[in-house]
Amino acid sequence: MNTTQSVFPALLSALNECDPEAKCRLTDEISAAFSDGLLDNAPAEAPEDFRFAGRPAKPRLVPANAVRPRKMNTPEGYAAMLHAICHIEFNAVNLALDAAYRFRTLPAAFTADWIRVAQEEAGHFRLMRARLQAHGFDYGDFEAHNHLWDMAYKTAFDPLLRMALVPRVLEARGLDVTPAIRAKVEQKGDAETCAVLDIIYRDEVGHVQIGNHWYQYLCAERGLEPVALFRMLISRYDLFIFRGYVNIEARERAGFSRFELDMLEDFERGLGRG
Ligand SMILES: [Fe+2]
Repeated sequence: MNTTQSVFPALLSALNECDPEAKCRLTDEISAAFSDGLLDNAPAEAPEDFRFAGRPAKPRLVPANAVRPRKMNTPEGYAAMLHAICHIEFNAVNLALDAAYRFRTLPAAFTADWIRVAQEEAGHFRLMRARLQAHGFDYGDFEAHNHLWDMAYKTAFDPLLRMALVPRVLEARGLDVTPAIRAKVEQKGDAETCAVLDIIYRDEVGHVQIGNHWYQYLCAERGLEPVALFRMLISRYDLFIFRGYVNIEARERAGFSRFELDMLEDFERGLGRG
């Protein structure tokens, strides 16, 4: 008797779950059941279109440019920085679950990859939330913006677009900014948070690598030239995200081609760093 069930309804419940801890637990369960072969990616009914994934009532969402900048040298400011990372990790769980749930024309390896990413992001969220709690705050105590999820929604109709713009652009940006954040955290003498950032950074290289892999795969499938397409997409989507330092070394490990890296450095220069 075949007792294998489709993973898609389970992914939908995890996506809809609003409580962060319950969402992380469901994600772990899906990941374990999928690797044990109890869930598979056999087609179920068509994916639902939803504007928002489940999230708690707090943090209050504000437009990206309305998030108040805070100085890291106050306890509140420091906690706000930890909160911002926590919020990114929470969104990253939803983004990875959404990729696994929504895009069903790809091999089972695609679903497996994004379920694994979701589970690692859930781990990051828990670790970061624990650091925030250790500093006397919790997830939801500060305002946040919804930029990451908005990009997920904008790219929900095409896995190629999603792979091009979310892991390879927004998540890869995390690789650029993490070393500077880590340096500030280290300066504070917060070794526990440094250790968490190291785990996040290590895993994030892998996630960007997965994004790069499937981006190349989809380009090949459609006979599109990956570098030219990427260049066109970032100008069309007006992605001014290359401001500041580009972590060439980490991006190279995450599978960006030399040509793309030159292009990113070019963009960076073009934006004028001063
Ligand atoms: Fe993460």
